[in-house]
Amino acid sequence: MTIAKDLSLEERILKLKEERNAVILVHNYQLGEVQDIADFIGDSLGLSQNAAKTKADVIVFCGVHFMAETAAILCPNMTVLLPDHHAGCPMANMINAEQLRQKKKELPNASVVCYINSTAEVKAESDICCTSANAVKVVESVANDEILFIPDQYLGHYISTKTNKKMHFWPGYCPTHARIRDRDIIRLKQEYPKAKVVVHPECRPEVIALADEVASTGGIIRYARREDVREMIVGTEIGIIHRLKKENPDKKFIPVSEQAVCPNMKLITLEKVLWSLEEMAPVVTVPKGIRLRAKATVDKMLTIV
Ligand code: 13P
Ligand code: SF4
Repeated sequence: MTIAKDLSLEERILKLKEERNAVILVHNYQLGEVQDIADFIGDSLGLSQNAAKTKADVIVFCGVHFMAETAAILCPNMTVLLPDHHAGCPMANMINAEQLRQKKKELPNASVVCYINSTAEVKAESDICCTSANAVKVVESVANDEILFIPDQYLGHYISTKTNKKMHFWPGYCPTHARIRDRDIIRLKQEYPKAKVVVHPECRPEVIALADEVASTGGIIRYARREDVREMIVGTEIGIIHRLKKENPDKKFIPVSEQAVCPNMKLITLEKVLWSLEEMAPVVTVPKGIRLRAKATVDKMLTIV
């Protein structure tokens, strides 16, 4: 396929996207330049819902591996491209299927709720999936009163403060959100006394304890649109600041930590998006046996939200 070289990078991507009948799905933590070419931008829940209903032939997933894998689970007849195959999520890799099978033997009466930040084979071993946007609702929807929540201990801890269910955790965590510290929020609250503190539920419990609002990245975007919010101290990955400022140019957004950068999210660039559409690679696939079991876990979540 030949694309005129005098076009800008963005124009070449858009032209090739049309020729391939592709859709570009972008997570809220992506580089600003990548966010700006999105057909849909959102959180893990919104991206899965969008993947499940798209009529495109190709999905270019600008996010990390588990997100592209979830799209491949939901859309087996589409080609799912992840423009850099090194873009993984360290937390998703903190538990594998064998470790989960072992834990299930130790806790035979517990139902397994897996965070969407997990591999397809771990989803296949779980009873139901959740995202940060629906985690409490999903756990509450499970008939069983005993839950094994994997892999994020901090999200698990947050859910446990909202439910009476007996919860067991796996010691996984997000290295990026672990850099967001309560002492920084306390300092920023003194500097910006009128600002609302909004944090992601992957943050440490002592950080969550200081928040006015705890929400998924999509929830943080919605919260920022509220009339009464003029200044916001933002406790999540700093890529979200681009969209917050773009949608709310007259409001002030203060990241808790400039160190809260997910290096994996930043591996996706415009050059790689173009290359990926040109080469139709790297393709993310899931073997059928695992895919069908993982799909049941994701579908269960999508029916309750
Ligand atoms: P959201 O689903 O809230 O966008 O979070 C995904 C993620 O990886 C957070 O670190
Ligand atoms: Fe994974 Fe954390 Fe990056 Fe989200 S921010 S993709 S949880 S490492």
